[in-house]
Amino acid sequence: MKSFYLTTAIDYANSSPHIGHAYEKVLADVIARFRRLMGDRVFFLTGTDEHGQKVQQSARARGIAPQQFVDEVSAEFRGLCTKLNISNDDFIRTTEERHKRVVRELLQRLFDKGEIYRAEYRGFYSTRQEQFLQEKDRKPDGTWPEIFGEVTEIVESNYFFKLRSYQDWLIDFLKRHENFIFPSYRQKEAVEFLAEPINDLCISRPRERLEWGIPLPFDEKFVTYVWFDALVNYYSAVVDKPEFWPADIHVIGKDILVPHAIYWPIMLHAAGLPPPRALLVHGWWTQRGAKMSKSTGNVLNPLDFVTEFGVDAFRYFVVREMNVGQDSDFTREQFLVRYNSELANNLGNLVNRTLNMTTRFAGGIVPAVEIAEEHERELRVLWEKTREEAIVLCEGFQFHTALERTVIFITAINIYIDQRAPWKLAKSTVPRDAALLRSALGTMAEALRLGATLLQPVMPATTEKIRAALGYTPTAAWRGELAWSPRLNGAQVSPGLVLFPRPEEKQKSEVRGQVPE
Ligand code: MSP
Repeated sequence: MKSFYLTTAIDYANSSPHIGHAYEKVLADVIARFRRLMGDRVFFLTGTDEHGQKVQQSARARGIAPQQFVDEVSAEFRGLCTKLNISNDDFIRTTEERHKRVVRELLQRLFDKGEIYRAEYRGFYSTRQEQFLQEKDRKPDGTWPEIFGEVTEIVESNYFFKLRSYQDWLIDFLKRHENFIFPSYRQKEAVEFLAEPINDLCISRPRERLEWGIPLPFDEKFVTYVWFDALVNYYSAVVDKPEFWPADIHVIGKDILVPHAIYWPIMLHAAGLPPPRALLVHGWWTQRGAKMSKSTGNVLNPLDFVTEFGVDAFRYFVVREMNVGQDSDFTREQFLVRYNSELANNLGNLVNRTLNMTTRFAGGIVPAVEIAEEHERELRVLWEKTREEAIVLCEGFQFHTALERTVIFITAINIYIDQRAPWKLAKSTVPRDAALLRSALGTMAEALRLGATLLQPVMPATTEKIRAALGYTPTAAWRGELAWSPRLNGAQVSPGLVLFPRPEEKQKSEVRGQVPE
């Protein structure tokens, strides 16, 4: 069995989760579930990034100790994972002892190898924001924006990691591993970043300025720079599980490409550890083109959507809507379009038609298929194509297209039902029509079972509900479950199942099922 280790970025524990955080977890979860279904032994890690200036400031602003502050925020992120049905195997917090120990060991190892040195750091410092500024923070006229208050140039003694001496190694590494970063245009970006000489990385902050961090093992008057601490989480979580190192994929957003593509491989290589196998870099959820973030105030609470539409509808929407790598706008309108057209009217409708008709025309028992004509053959051919394509697409992280293909198949089942019109066949007294009716009912039930199986990585609870309503318990591994077969013959179905009630009609539809045939 192949081991497969994947991670998400660990979220800053300084504010509540938003759609961006939720998306990243769902995306990684879809990969984790897909790999498990494909037979891999998966270890899936997520967690929270709890040290640093911002956390210290947010805790101060609330007048509580940083530890209490991060305990609360981290619990919120953990709760998000539960509500999103995320199948993570571990949740790491950078304030945990198991993590701090590994960070200190790694720092000591690098220090002993001569990879870390002490030097003067010169820069512009904003006392109001308690941070060093960069040239790019200046206004076009060279002055500093109002929010920084008084800015002074200061010189500070700090520790530096010899990033630059590994620049050539990294350039060569990226050449040898063309597919290290997905999508490939992000790999190009990393290569371009390396075209100019890179600076060594300042990895410490004096404790008198920042208390909230991991003290350097070789100089306790300093704490570790938050990125040097945070990145190590991927390693500290599996330090006693060598079969999961190196990581197969780090799932991250495009704003944190540089720490992951540049610092992290070099840190590991310098410490004598193999670098990760791949980075999967997704884009941003925007609102009217602007990045959704706490600071711009345009954040949507993912849990509102989960409460209103159900977890699987949320998972479906974000995976279906975003082409992994690119940005996407998140609007309620677009959510409703997909919810109504693809979930309620297509899949939800199919489920109800199948259950209703099997109940009305076959006493609730799925009949065996006796006749396979053009319509049945076409549907089956489309299924074989859909299954093969969807798997290849998922392997290449093209989940949105895999879902699109699956929706096409679901639509085709609904069209098949219209063509066969079981309600007409049921009125006929011709014996062949009775056989055709049984065949149509058997065909639609099996096609629905297959479509639902293909949706499993994205909508695991929905797949379960559909299986249960079809009176079916899976018996084979996933690939086997994706084979068209007579396994539903004789199954006892439920009379109905409301999966995706229309928001405006929730109450009514709960009583009478979604859409009549
Ligand atoms: N703590 C760092 C990551 C350290 S990893 C060793 C961090 N945290 S974050 O909370 O700001 O972001 C966590 C993840 O959420 C990142 O991958 C980031 O790209 C992603 N997103 C944050 N806002 C986002 C959107 N608006 N859209 C999509 N994802 C974005 O960075």
